[in-house]
Amino acid sequence: MTKSESVVRRGGNVFTPALHLYYPLAIAAGRGVRVESVEGKTYLDFSSGLAVLNLGHNHLRVIEAARAQMENLVHTGGIYYSDTVVKAAEKLVSVTPAGLDMVFFSNSGAEAVEGALKLARYVTGRQGIISFTGGFHGRTLGAVSVTTSSARYRKRYLPLLPSVYQVPYPSCFRCPFQQAQSRCDQLCLDYLRDFLERVIYPEEVAAMIIEPVMGEGGYVPAPPDFLRELRTLCTQHGIQLIFDEVQSGMGRTGQWFAAQHYEVSPDILTVAKGIASGFPLSAVVAGKNLMSRWEPGAHGTTFGGNPVSCAASVATIAVIEEEGLLPKVRAAGKTVLSRLRAIAAECPVIGDVRGFGFMIGIEFVDNTGAPDGAACQRVLDFCLQNGLVLIECGPKRNVVRFVPPLIVSDTDLDCALSIFGDGVRSLR
Ligand SMILES: Cc1ncc(COP(=O)(O)O)c(C=O)c1O
Repeated sequence: MTKSESVVRRGGNVFTPALHLYYPLAIAAGRGVRVESVEGKTYLDFSSGLAVLNLGHNHLRVIEAARAQMENLVHTGGIYYSDTVVKAAEKLVSVTPAGLDMVFFSNSGAEAVEGALKLARYVTGRQGIISFTGGFHGRTLGAVSVTTSSARYRKRYLPLLPSVYQVPYPSCFRCPFQQAQSRCDQLCLDYLRDFLERVIYPEEVAAMIIEPVMGEGGYVPAPPDFLRELRTLCTQHGIQLIFDEVQSGMGRTGQWFAAQHYEVSPDILTVAKGIASGFPLSAVVAGKNLMSRWEPGAHGTTFGGNPVSCAASVATIAVIEEEGLLPKVRAAGKTVLSRLRAIAAECPVIGDVRGFGFMIGIEFVDNTGAPDGAACQRVLDFCLQNGLVLIECGPKRNVVRFVPPLIVSDTDLDCALSIFGDGVRSLR
């Protein structure tokens, strides 16, 4: 039995099988873009710990900031102010879209989504919430109520939060109305407008929550016109527009937030994953106009805004700024996209390559165009054997997420693309 197998077996004795891990691999250490298994084998980690490690594993500046904070103060428990925590909020609002200038810190993406939904209901006094089919917003009961990337996340948890509705997400490669993109004429928006006449009046809707670039549901960027018109519709009716940028935020797409690519600002933004390079931290960010109406005690937390996580967050943002990573990621993302499209042009098993920056999805299809999760998994297994960790997403698990750390070098990108290309060609 290998050392990994032994760790996996021990894990099987103490972890519920509900906790599904991607690979039966135990790692001992991580540095930058690489992890080392307990057997001593090195892998290029292009999963970035589920799109969290934008600066790679154990970035020295982040570790140093966290260590220094740990030596002074680890926990405030929502009792005291801490300069570090205030600094983290100030730093965060310096990179969020204009007007989003107040923060509520929590620990995980799902918690931030809960906070955003509560804030929207609180300030509007309305009940209805609309989310978009295929979206993923987390596992807690409120978050899972707006999550429809897979019925597996909702199975046996019904009934969920009442007054939550779903309308189609504009996934152009798999159009919910079977239209070609050029002929669609914004049918998803028509559907939504019709929904607001037939199912729930807009004045009863507190919020619409959407991932501007869908993550778990298949790495699908929304068309810009759709988000612009959604913004207009929400403003018109006093509906709070929530952008869930837990996965697409903090530089992943080559802008701090995908909202900035689209030049569309939400009323409420959820942030987590990349915010603190692996230390647990998340945030609800909104304008003072909303946040100041969320009265004292209306929401709270014991661990949210942990000073060590906040120190890591301040360092994370500083490194992204000082190293000019965002323009680098925008440029490198375009190159990667075209190189992946070149592989797709040779290999019909890839039906679509899409995304921004280092949030790129590669969709595997069979010869009828249907999702091909088995082909996708064979390529992922090939990559793992050859020292490259990639993970999948999508309801049929047929989309590879290409999400390297933002600090990845050109040489490591070349190496990963070469392994991935060999994996795809090996299917023939
Ligand atoms: C868009 C989005 N929202 C929310 C979540 C939930 O985050 P967490 O797993 O930290 O609760 C995720 C996690 O993948 C996500 O991608």
